[in-house]
Amino acid sequence: MRPNPFGVIVLAAGVGKRMQSDLPKVLHELAGKPILFHILEKVLNVHPDAAIALVVGHGREAVESAVKAAPFFDPAKITFVVQPEQRGTGDAARVAMDSAWGEALVKAKAAVTVLPGDLPLVTDELVAAIMEPLDRDCALRLLTCELSNPTGYGRVARRGKAGSVQKIVEEKDATLREKEIREVACSIYAFQAAFLKSGLAKLSTKNAQKEFYLTDLIGQAARAKKRIEVLKWAQPEDVRGINDPWELALARQAFKDRCIRAWCLRGVKFIDPSSAWIDCSVEIARDVTIYPGVILLGKTTVGERTVLGPRTLLKDATVGRDVNLKQGTIVEQSRIEEGATLGPYAHLRPESVVGKGAKVGNFVELKKAKIGEKTSVAHLSYVGDAEVGRDCNIGCGFVTCNYDGRMIDGSRKHKTVIEDGVFMGSACQVIAPIRIGKGAYVASGSTLTKDVEADALAVARSRQENKLGYARKLKGDGN
Ligand code: UD1
Ligand code: CA
Repeated sequence: MRPNPFGVIVLAAGVGKRMQSDLPKVLHELAGKPILFHILEKVLNVHPDAAIALVVGHGREAVESAVKAAPFFDPAKITFVVQPEQRGTGDAARVAMDSAWGEALVKAKAAVTVLPGDLPLVTDELVAAIMEPLDRDCALRLLTCELSNPTGYGRVARRGKAGSVQKIVEEKDATLREKEIREVACSIYAFQAAFLKSGLAKLSTKNAQKEFYLTDLIGQAARAKKRIEVLKWAQPEDVRGINDPWELALARQAFKDRCIRAWCLRGVKFIDPSSAWIDCSVEIARDVTIYPGVILLGKTTVGERTVLGPRTLLKDATVGRDVNLKQGTIVEQSRIEEGATLGPYAHLRPESVVGKGAKVGNFVELKKAKIGEKTSVAHLSYVGDAEVGRDCNIGCGFVTCNYDGRMIDGSRKHKTVIEDGVFMGSACQVIAPIRIGKGAYVASGSTLTKDVEADALAVARSRQENKLGYARKLKGDGN
């Protein structure tokens, strides 16, 4: 029988000094969740029954409570093991193997996968490959990768004609010659539990960092002539570690590129993928076109054939099909129904709805406003706390005066209702609360302070009077 390495140790106790942050390294955010969650999720995707021991130490309360609060994990499936002092990766693995969790695996003659908490770009395929059953005569499986720039990683030293693995040399212990090796270890292994346990007990701190190196187990196995299986991984971007803020920024970029590529392969057209930012939580339908500088965040969804113009920003927005968002439009926690046109530079603040085929033009701001089907609010308007019916025409420069500095019925903001088919002339203001009845006309330049009946014409401005010749008199010429 070949035991499945379903026991998984995830190392997350390190200080992460190079991050230069008060926040534990594994809790830094990447694509909407802590770095650590990425690898835990991959393990649970591939093997939902994996027995995970999470080694915590530095910032342990914060790490533990973040994991326990995450909806994706069943805390019952994760055993927290505390590494009291951060004395290296070997010491971290040792506390796990010396715990009751580790004892049980040794007894069961199981195999154990070891993963670092700081490799968020690993894929399901990689986790599945390292967790393949391990032959009984094989002490360990080691994942390696060729990097064009291996600086900072442990190098894989090989020997003899067959090039069998001899040991791993850490960057700080490497000779100039060893530093030229481009094959690196990635902190990803599967071990026979018994070999892991006994090997860890033999580690010493005789090295440049005075730490217990987990990597020294490879040298031990080679010296004891035990079989080492090497899994050479061909995608270097999957094993990018995060040790400092620059590597975090690079990982963010890599994550985003992956996400955009996946959307392209599902039929989304990016005019300039390098300038777009798409959170992983976003959903985009096929035949959507995305112009340069678009930012899509949170729980945003975009329907088929919709065009997102240059520098549009959507956050938690629901956008239907065949919508056209022109340049610079910003939409937050709002819904846009099919066939609507917005912008350039429209601003939808939370709880707004733009109905089917409606038009919200340039420099229009909506807040908690519902714009009905085929209604047009084409230019320079503010519509807040309002319900506008269908087939209305709201002229240029319309303003809902929704706040008068007082509280009425516990609310500071007052509602405007504009029923279906209303024609609002340009430069009108309505003092809320107010209702404009169905099919009413409002003359340009009106300031409405009271409701308008259906089908009425409202004129609320002073009459114009022309005083003939008066201008000349004012200028003082003539008699
Ligand atoms: C480690 C490997 C290196 C490999 C690299 C790949 C060792 C000695 N080196 O180096 O060969 O190329 O990963 O990314 O293993 N941790 C603890 N307790 C500790 C120290 C670390 O839990 O006392 C955890 C950290 O939280 C981290 C992981 O172990 O998640 C790796 O530690 P880190 O210090 O980042 O090791 P590297 O220097 O990257
Ligand atoms: Ca690391």
